[in-house]
Amino acid sequence: MKVIIKKTKEEIGEEIAKEILKDIKENDHLILGLATGSTPLPLYKSLITQSKEEEVSFKNIKTFNLDEYCGLDATNDQSYRYFMNENLFKYLDFEPNSHHFPSTENCSKYDDLIEEAGGIDIQILGIGENGHIAFNEPNTSLDSKTHITSLTQNTIKNNSRFFANVEDVPTKAITMGLSTILKARKIYLIATGKNKAEAIKTMLEGKYIPSCPASALNLKENDVYIYLDEDAATLLKE
Ligand code: PGA
Repeated sequence: MKVIIKKTKEEIGEEIAKEILKDIKENDHLILGLATGSTPLPLYKSLITQSKEEEVSFKNIKTFNLDEYCGLDATNDQSYRYFMNENLFKYLDFEPNSHHFPSTENCSKYDDLIEEAGGIDIQILGIGENGHIAFNEPNTSLDSKTHITSLTQNTIKNNSRFFANVEDVPTKAITMGLSTILKARKIYLIATGKNKAEAIKTMLEGKYIPSCPASALNLKENDVYIYLDEDAATLLKE
Protein backbone atom coordinates (compact mmCIF):
# COMPACT_ATOMS: atom_id res chain seq x y z
CA MET A 1 0.00 0.00 0.00
CA LYS A 2 1.37 3.38 -0.95
CA VAL A 3 0.18 6.58 0.77
CA ILE A 4 0.42 9.83 -1.19
CA ILE A 5 -0.42 13.15 0.46
CA LYS A 6 -1.29 16.16 -1.72
CA LYS A 7 -2.16 19.72 -0.80
CA THR A 8 -5.53 19.80 -2.55
CA LYS A 9 -8.23 17.48 -3.87
CA GLU A 10 -7.69 18.99 -7.33
CA GLU A 11 -4.04 17.85 -7.34
CA ILE A 12 -5.18 14.36 -6.37
CA GLY A 13 -7.67 14.32 -9.24
CA GLU A 14 -5.06 15.50 -11.75
CA GLU A 15 -2.53 12.89 -10.72
CA ILE A 16 -4.87 9.90 -10.73
CA ALA A 17 -6.43 11.01 -14.04
CA LYS A 18 -2.93 11.11 -15.54
CA GLU A 19 -2.23 7.56 -14.29
CA ILE A 20 -5.54 6.24 -15.62
CA LEU A 21 -4.99 7.80 -19.05
CA LYS A 22 -1.47 6.37 -19.15
CA ASP A 23 -2.96 2.90 -18.56
CA ILE A 24 -5.67 3.45 -21.19
CA LYS A 25 -3.03 4.41 -23.73
CA GLU A 26 -1.40 1.02 -23.10
CA ASN A 27 -4.69 -0.91 -23.11
CA ASP A 28 -7.75 0.80 -24.57
CA HIS A 29 -10.02 -2.07 -23.39
CA LEU A 30 -9.57 -1.37 -19.69
CA ILE A 31 -12.31 -2.19 -17.19
CA LEU A 32 -12.87 0.67 -14.77
CA GLY A 33 -14.52 0.34 -11.36
CA LEU A 34 -16.08 3.68 -10.49
CA ALA A 35 -17.31 5.43 -7.37
CA THR A 36 -19.82 8.20 -6.70
CA GLY A 37 -19.96 10.86 -3.96
CA SER A 38 -18.16 14.19 -3.60
CA THR A 39 -14.69 12.66 -3.38
CA PRO A 40 -14.15 11.49 -6.99
CA LEU A 41 -15.56 14.67 -8.60
CA PRO A 42 -12.18 16.42 -9.09
CA LEU A 43 -10.84 13.19 -10.61
CA TYR A 44 -13.74 13.01 -13.08
CA LYS A 45 -13.23 16.68 -14.02
CA SER A 46 -9.55 16.03 -14.69
CA LEU A 47 -10.31 12.87 -16.66
CA ILE A 48 -12.62 14.87 -18.91
CA THR A 49 -10.15 17.73 -19.52
CA GLN A 50 -7.03 15.61 -19.84
CA SER A 51 -8.63 13.04 -22.16
CA LYS A 52 -9.81 15.86 -24.45
CA GLU A 53 -6.35 17.50 -24.44
CA GLU A 54 -4.62 14.20 -25.15
CA GLU A 55 -7.34 12.83 -27.44
CA VAL A 56 -7.77 9.62 -25.49
CA SER A 57 -10.82 7.59 -26.46
CA PHE A 58 -13.07 5.67 -24.04
CA LYS A 59 -14.85 3.83 -26.86
CA ASN A 60 -13.69 0.39 -25.75
CA ILE A 61 -13.69 1.03 -22.01
CA LYS A 62 -16.28 -0.71 -19.83
CA THR A 63 -17.29 0.55 -16.41
CA PHE A 64 -18.71 -1.14 -13.32
CA ASN A 65 -19.97 1.10 -10.55
CA LEU A 66 -19.49 0.16 -6.94
CA ASP A 67 -23.02 0.64 -5.71
CA GLU A 68 -26.53 1.96 -6.21
CA TYR A 69 -29.45 2.84 -3.95
CA CYS A 70 -32.36 0.40 -3.88
CA GLY A 71 -35.52 1.87 -5.34
CA LEU A 72 -34.08 4.80 -7.33
CA ASP A 73 -34.08 4.33 -11.10
CA ALA A 74 -31.78 6.01 -13.61
CA THR A 75 -34.12 8.97 -14.11
CA ASN A 76 -33.99 9.85 -10.39
CA ASP A 77 -31.45 12.63 -9.93
CA GLN A 78 -30.21 11.00 -6.73
CA SER A 79 -29.46 7.66 -8.38
CA TYR A 80 -25.81 6.86 -8.93
CA ARG A 81 -26.42 6.12 -12.59
CA TYR A 82 -27.74 9.68 -12.98
CA PHE A 83 -24.70 11.01 -11.07
CA MET A 84 -22.27 9.17 -13.34
CA ASN A 85 -24.04 10.34 -16.50
CA GLU A 86 -24.00 13.95 -15.33
CA ASN A 87 -20.46 14.03 -13.99
CA LEU A 88 -18.52 11.80 -16.37
CA PHE A 89 -20.17 9.58 -18.94
CA LYS A 90 -21.90 12.23 -21.06
CA TYR A 91 -18.62 14.09 -21.64
CA LEU A 92 -16.67 11.12 -23.02
CA ASP A 93 -17.09 8.86 -26.05
CA PHE A 94 -18.19 5.72 -24.18
CA GLU A 95 -20.45 3.31 -26.06
CA PRO A 96 -24.01 3.53 -24.66
CA ASN A 97 -24.04 -0.02 -23.27
CA SER A 98 -20.65 0.07 -21.63
CA HIS A 99 -21.82 1.04 -18.13
CA HIS A 100 -22.87 -1.42 -15.44
CA PHE A 101 -24.53 -0.75 -12.11
CA PRO A 102 -25.52 -3.28 -9.48
CA SER A 103 -29.28 -3.65 -9.12
CA THR A 104 -31.74 -5.84 -7.27
CA GLU A 105 -32.16 -7.72 -10.58
CA ASN A 106 -28.49 -8.41 -11.40
CA CYS A 107 -27.16 -8.50 -7.80
CA SER A 108 -26.39 -12.24 -7.67
CA LYS A 109 -24.77 -12.09 -11.13
CA TYR A 110 -22.79 -8.84 -10.81
CA ASP A 111 -19.52 -10.50 -9.72
CA ASP A 112 -19.83 -12.93 -12.65
CA LEU A 113 -20.51 -10.05 -15.05
CA ILE A 114 -17.30 -8.41 -13.85
CA GLU A 115 -15.35 -11.64 -14.26
CA GLU A 116 -16.79 -12.26 -17.73
CA ALA A 117 -15.71 -8.77 -18.79
CA GLY A 118 -12.17 -9.64 -17.71
CA GLY A 119 -12.09 -8.32 -14.13
CA ILE A 120 -11.63 -4.77 -12.91
CA ASP A 121 -8.29 -3.24 -13.90
CA ILE A 122 -8.60 0.02 -11.96
CA GLN A 123 -10.95 0.56 -9.02
CA ILE A 124 -11.66 4.04 -7.65
CA LEU A 125 -12.80 4.20 -4.02
CA GLY A 126 -13.87 6.84 -1.55
CA ILE A 127 -14.18 6.11 2.15
CA GLY A 128 -16.98 6.80 4.61
CA GLU A 129 -16.50 8.52 7.95
CA ASN A 130 -17.19 5.10 9.46
CA GLY A 131 -14.56 3.44 7.28
CA HIS A 132 -16.98 1.98 4.73
CA ILE A 133 -15.88 1.35 1.15
CA ALA A 134 -18.71 1.31 -1.37
CA PHE A 135 -21.64 0.49 0.94
CA ASN A 136 -19.74 -2.16 2.87
CA GLU A 137 -20.60 -0.89 6.31
CA PRO A 138 -18.58 -1.82 9.45
CA ASN A 139 -18.32 -5.59 10.08
CA THR A 140 -19.31 -6.63 6.55
CA SER A 141 -17.83 -10.06 5.82
CA LEU A 142 -14.51 -10.17 4.00
CA ASP A 143 -15.96 -12.86 1.74
CA SER A 144 -18.87 -10.67 0.67
CA LYS A 145 -19.73 -10.45 -3.00
CA THR A 146 -22.21 -7.97 -4.48
CA HIS A 147 -25.14 -7.86 -2.08
CA ILE A 148 -28.04 -5.82 -0.75
CA THR A 149 -27.26 -4.02 2.47
CA SER A 150 -28.90 -1.74 5.03
CA LEU A 151 -27.25 1.65 5.41
CA THR A 152 -26.11 2.74 8.87
CA GLN A 153 -27.60 5.86 10.47
CA ASN A 154 -24.24 7.62 10.03
CA THR A 155 -24.24 6.95 6.27
CA ILE A 156 -27.90 7.99 5.92
CA LYS A 157 -27.20 11.23 7.81
CA ASN A 158 -24.10 12.02 5.70
CA ASN A 159 -25.85 11.27 2.42
CA SER A 160 -28.91 13.31 3.39
CA ARG A 161 -27.01 16.43 2.27
CA PHE A 162 -27.93 15.48 -1.30
CA PHE A 163 -31.65 14.98 -0.54
CA ALA A 164 -34.43 17.40 0.45
CA ASN A 165 -35.11 15.48 3.70
CA VAL A 166 -33.27 12.79 5.60
CA GLU A 167 -36.44 10.65 5.26
CA ASP A 168 -35.91 10.63 1.47
CA VAL A 169 -32.55 8.81 1.70
CA PRO A 170 -33.02 5.14 0.77
CA THR A 171 -32.20 2.85 3.69
CA LYS A 172 -30.98 0.03 1.47
CA ALA A 173 -28.45 -0.23 -1.32
CA ILE A 174 -26.78 -2.80 -3.56
CA THR A 175 -23.02 -2.81 -3.24
CA MET A 176 -20.00 -4.70 -4.52
CA GLY A 177 -18.71 -6.78 -1.62
CA LEU A 178 -15.28 -6.61 -0.01
CA SER A 179 -14.11 -9.69 -1.90
CA THR A 180 -15.32 -8.13 -5.18
CA ILE A 181 -13.32 -4.97 -4.49
CA LEU A 182 -10.16 -6.80 -3.40
CA LYS A 183 -10.05 -8.62 -6.75
CA ALA A 184 -9.40 -5.36 -8.65
CA ARG A 185 -5.90 -5.31 -10.13
CA LYS A 186 -5.17 -1.73 -9.07
CA ILE A 187 -6.98 0.36 -6.45
CA TYR A 188 -6.97 4.11 -5.85
CA LEU A 189 -8.66 5.14 -2.59
CA ILE A 190 -9.16 8.88 -2.21
CA ALA A 191 -9.93 10.65 1.08
CA THR A 192 -10.31 14.40 1.39
CA GLY A 193 -11.46 16.47 4.36
CA LYS A 194 -10.99 16.35 8.14
CA ASN A 195 -14.09 14.17 8.62
CA LYS A 196 -12.21 11.28 6.99
CA ALA A 197 -9.07 11.60 9.18
CA GLU A 198 -10.17 9.14 11.87
CA ALA A 199 -11.14 6.41 9.37
CA ILE A 200 -7.84 6.92 7.51
CA LYS A 201 -5.85 6.62 10.75
CA THR A 202 -7.57 3.31 11.55
CA MET A 203 -7.15 2.01 8.02
CA LEU A 204 -3.43 2.80 8.02
CA GLU A 205 -2.74 0.86 11.21
CA GLY A 206 -1.66 -1.79 8.76
CA LYS A 207 -3.97 -4.64 9.68
CA TYR A 208 -7.50 -5.73 8.87
CA ILE A 209 -9.96 -4.41 11.44
CA PRO A 210 -13.55 -5.57 10.64
CA SER A 211 -15.11 -2.42 12.09
CA CYS A 212 -13.18 -0.43 9.43
CA PRO A 213 -13.97 -2.13 6.09
CA ALA A 214 -11.40 0.02 4.23
CA SER A 215 -8.67 -1.68 6.28
CA ALA A 216 -9.35 -4.81 4.18
CA LEU A 217 -7.12 -3.11 1.61
CA ASN A 218 -4.18 -4.03 3.90
CA LEU A 219 -4.73 -7.62 2.74
CA LYS A 220 -3.85 -6.74 -0.83
CA GLU A 221 -0.12 -6.83 -1.46
CA ASN A 222 0.40 -4.57 -4.45
CA ASP A 223 -1.10 -1.77 -6.40
CA VAL A 224 -3.11 -0.07 -3.67
CA TYR A 225 -2.66 3.70 -3.68
CA ILE A 226 -4.14 5.85 -0.92
CA TYR A 227 -4.41 9.52 -1.94
CA LEU A 228 -5.03 11.96 0.91
CA ASP A 229 -5.30 15.70 1.16
CA GLU A 230 -3.68 17.35 4.17
CA ASP A 231 -6.96 17.43 6.12
CA ALA A 232 -7.58 13.70 5.73
CA ALA A 233 -3.95 13.08 6.77
CA THR A 234 -4.16 15.22 9.95
CA LEU A 235 -4.05 12.31 12.38
CA LEU A 236 -1.13 10.51 10.76
CA LYS A 237 2.20 10.72 12.54
CA GLU A 238 4.52 11.61 9.67
P1 PGA B 1 -18.18 11.20 -0.18
O1 PGA B 1 -18.62 9.71 0.15
O2 PGA B 1 -17.21 11.09 -1.29
O3 PGA B 1 -19.43 11.90 -0.59
O4 PGA B 1 -17.56 11.75 1.08
C1 PGA B 1 -17.65 8.73 0.26
C2 PGA B 1 -18.25 7.46 0.79
O5 PGA B 1 -19.19 7.52 1.60
O6 PGA B 1 -17.76 6.38 0.42
